Amino acid sequence: MFNVGITDKCVNELHPMLRNIVVLTGAGVSAESGLRTFRADDGLWEEHRIEDVCTPAAFARDPRLVHQFYDARRTRAAEVEPNPAHHALARLEAEWEGDFLLVTQNVDSLHERAGSKRLIHMHGKLDSGWCLACGERFPWLGSMSPSGNICPLCKVEGQVRPDIVWFGEMPYEMDRIEAALMNADLFVSIGTSGAVYPAAGFVQTARYCGARTVEINLEPSLGSVFFDEARIGPAGVEVPKWVDEMLQSAQSSPMSS
Ligand code: APR
Repeated sequence: MFNVGITDKCVNELHPMLRNIVVLTGAGVSAESGLRTFRADDGLWEEHRIEDVCTPAAFARDPRLVHQFYDARRTRAAEVEPNPAHHALARLEAEWEGDFLLVTQNVDSLHERAGSKRLIHMHGKLDSGWCLACGERFPWLGSMSPSGNICPLCKVEGQVRPDIVWFGEMPYEMDRIEAALMNADLFVSIGTSGAVYPAAGFVQTARYCGARTVEINLEPSLGSVFFDEARIGPAGVEVPKWVDEMLQSAQSSPMSS
């Protein structure tokens, strides 16, 4: 569980009103756009074992395979459109008066294409490259495979890798995420199995710090006991419904102004 830095203060601090929201999303929020989730019944992701394509060791062993794999994911992600769940979350962010942070484990850009702005891609992004020669990150839209893999900044060839957080690597912006979780009045987890830490532990951090916790998923996640409320169903239906309820209750509540 990720709970570094939790203080006694937050154990006792039950928020008197609901203002600050943290939303965590996973692959399930993009499923209805046509992107496959990770933990399908066969245990494979797009016909590959995760350890063959999603680890630094796999990249060192067979960079060509890893590049091919992420090139295909990048191409596919550019072909699909945000669905009603992405749009509803962007609307909530735009209309909610308290703090709002969307943390996604997804590497597609569907949230920002739907209009989300206060967004952290904790597992990186398909449309970003990371040069191992100069250390810089930059937008990258095309293929990354060895021919044509040249850093736009330092011009070194063959050193740009997908800007994706692989197993064994540290997710991005954990300090900012942890601070938001500690301040949250409401934590909502959408379309994630709860199988991968540290994201799977966010519910416990938020709950420990006094937040109400809600899960929206096709099925109960592995951490379902930590949620105060579960809404079971497709994100494209359940998220817009939940967002409508949130915005309506904010309008009718004097505490939200
Ligand atoms: N609506 C809501 N939930 C859905 C939908 C849907 N339409 N379709 C699937 N789900 C649920 C599944 O039931 C499952 O619980 O979404 C969840 C997806 O879980 P995973 O495939 O494990 O994806 P995720 O939790 O995002 O994986 C976390 O694991 O492999 C790593 O880095 C990768 O970010 C990823 C991380």
